[in-house]
Amino acid sequence: IKDNGDVASAYAANYIIERIKKLSPTQQRPFVLGLPTGSSPLGVYRILVEKYKAGEISFENVVTFNMDEYVDIPRDHEGSYHSFMWKHFFSHVNIHPANVNILDGNATDLEAECVAYEAKIKAAGGIDLFLAGIGEDGHIAFNEPGSSLASRTRVKTLAYDTIVANSRFFGNDFDLVPKMALTVGVQTVLDAREVVVIALGPRKALAVQRCVEQGVNHMWTLSALQLHPRSMIICDEDATLEL
Ligand code: GLP
Repeated sequence: IKDNGDVASAYAANYIIERIKKLSPTQQRPFVLGLPTGSSPLGVYRILVEKYKAGEISFENVVTFNMDEYVDIPRDHEGSYHSFMWKHFFSHVNIHPANVNILDGNATDLEAECVAYEAKIKAAGGIDLFLAGIGEDGHIAFNEPGSSLASRTRVKTLAYDTIVANSRFFGNDFDLVPKMALTVGVQTVLDAREVVVIALGPRKALAVQRCVEQGVNHMWTLSALQLHPRSMIICDEDATLEL
């Protein structure tokens, strides 16, 4: 628990940097980083970019896998997670474009795209650290309430509340928000060697409480992290109001 969002974001960014530095010089393979979108990780991305510009970290030996992507919006649409990630992070650091993996929500065969994504993660050696945000309803990635805790990358219909929450990225117009997405599964996240969640603000307080103080429950999918031996939720004070 950190005093505010800036301190929480700095903690998360420094944690990721330490992990990347620890792995890359000694390993033959790159560091594999799972990444989220949304407003929660923006501070983390900002600090990672600052540290890169200050010469404190290189992303040359980093491979990334994003958690999710909307179905059926053009890749260059400003609401797509492709656009989000390039705008806020990838364009500002020295990551090799070939090392960036984001699900293709426009693939002709969406199921095959999901199966191939899981295979790609496996071929990369698995995810070393998955950074995640949390939905107000406790979802991780787009694993909406009711998702199987054994789920893998798949097509998911978005919950009404998620569409409303994410409409702020689409000019507050509910109708413009895609209604389906591709998302890694709960089990895909659990397979990562480590999971770091960032939860900021009072809107996340109920979800944090349900996921931390209640039992493992597929209606609050982040609660599955209770089963993970190396998982951490970094909160600001406001996100802990219900604890
Ligand atoms: C979306 C994303 C999630 C994210 C959530 C919360 O639903 N698919 O990965 O955690 O939004 O977003 P925010 O951080 O903007 O509250």
